[in-house]
Amino acid sequence: MATPTLTVTDNRTGKQYTLKIEDGAIHATDLAQIKVAADQPGLVSYDPALVNTATCKSKVSYIDGDRGILRYRGYPIEELAEKSNYLETAYLIVKGELPTASHFKMWQHNIKMHTLVHENVKHFIEGFRYDAHPMGILIGTVGALSTFYPDAKNILDLESRRMQTRRLIGKMPTIAAFAYRHSRGLPYAYPDNDLSYAGNFLSMLFKMTELKYKPDPVLERALEVLFILHADHEQNCSSTTVRAVGSSHADPYSAVAAACAALGGPLHGAANEAVIHMLHEIGSKDRIPELIKQVKGRERRLMGFGHRVYKNYDPRAKIIKQIAYEVFEVTGKNPLIDIALELERIALEDDYFVSHRLYPNVDFYSGIIYEAMGFPMAMFPVLFAIARTSGWMAQWAEMLLDEEQKIVRPKQVYLGYDTRRYVPLADRPEDGGLIETEVRGPL
Ligand code: ACO
Repeated sequence: MATPTLTVTDNRTGKQYTLKIEDGAIHATDLAQIKVAADQPGLVSYDPALVNTATCKSKVSYIDGDRGILRYRGYPIEELAEKSNYLETAYLIVKGELPTASHFKMWQHNIKMHTLVHENVKHFIEGFRYDAHPMGILIGTVGALSTFYPDAKNILDLESRRMQTRRLIGKMPTIAAFAYRHSRGLPYAYPDNDLSYAGNFLSMLFKMTELKYKPDPVLERALEVLFILHADHEQNCSSTTVRAVGSSHADPYSAVAAACAALGGPLHGAANEAVIHMLHEIGSKDRIPELIKQVKGRERRLMGFGHRVYKNYDPRAKIIKQIAYEVFEVTGKNPLIDIALELERIALEDDYFVSHRLYPNVDFYSGIIYEAMGFPMAMFPVLFAIARTSGWMAQWAEMLLDEEQKIVRPKQVYLGYDTRRYVPLADRPEDGGLIETEVRGPL
């Protein structure tokens, strides 16, 4: 086979360059040698939103968007969803291999040792307004954890990294549940380490006066599977954030708080909320054609459809759809499912969706299940954050140990003014008396 290289001709100068291709990528820094003159800046690649730029080499998760494949550390998501549980999957994601029975026992013990939070964390949460969004509480509280664990700054120490990983995976459900109870004005329910990871979370959320909460096994398993499905998803917005913040050698609590903030946006972890709003708005099956017409007329988007990477059925959506029926056996049917199924059927037969390769994504059905389980919509991204913590920690550690990585510092294409001279305030001509809010500008 010919040497994997790329030959580029710069038509400005007529010069040719040979760029190395490695693992299907050229090095963007190799473009810097392409210049019109020695004293001019080299060529850069322009890629807003990093749509076609690999910023790292990773071994954590793999997606083939054309074929609808997702694997964690090589294991198909379907097998993990069927046979694994969240803590085992988290071990796989964080450490790279499935645990042996004794390693798993120890890992479970180590995580459960860290489910409690310092009492001051409780007081900290109490300081939020009665109607504070649980995602805001989560972001603030995870960031505050760095002040409780100053040892977390020792990011190059393996034992410290392991300790913060256990703490974060252990404490995320507790903080999330406390955020929920705060918004409901309910007393906080402390962790019950006799229960599974998902079972304990359900207990901290929904326990009332009973001495011991018994999670429904179907709902407990459904939540475990939903956590597995959300554990990692290669270089998405929040994983890129955890890497970018971590690249400055900030402690992992600060980096994960930033990742939570990225996840909270409606284009990322909160899209399932938009799906629920849309399904409620449709209200009945006979109004679906009208919605499809609006979508095709580009007046709005079909929420829960389409994906930057998947140009086929999102494999997670298939699994979630199946779980929905199991959950409804316990909770009673969420009537939104009938509208969703009909919407999917019509969309998948429609030329617009077929030609744009738009299929249901993970968010199309997850909100319906969460709603049936009694979660308010504001909790949807919080549930996502609990699951994604193992992925964030794996991505963060992989970035730290990668010798090719440095502090993130992208290039820009500068289009602003050339040099201007400062004019003292008194000498600047008035602009007709505009006040600050009327002056043009993005802020
Ligand atoms: N409904 C209608 N048309 C759509 C949709 C949609 N949901 N998604 C994409 N398209 C169309 C666009 O109009 C565009 O059409 P055009 O080429 O004819 O102009 C084409 O498909 C490509 O769309 P882009 O916005 O360029 O695709 P991108 O990869 O940037 O967007 C995204 C991906 C944001 C997920 C998009 O599909 C979308 O907005 N979906 C709805 C929101 C959603 O469900 N988000 C959850 C994603 S999963 C997750 O984050 C966990």
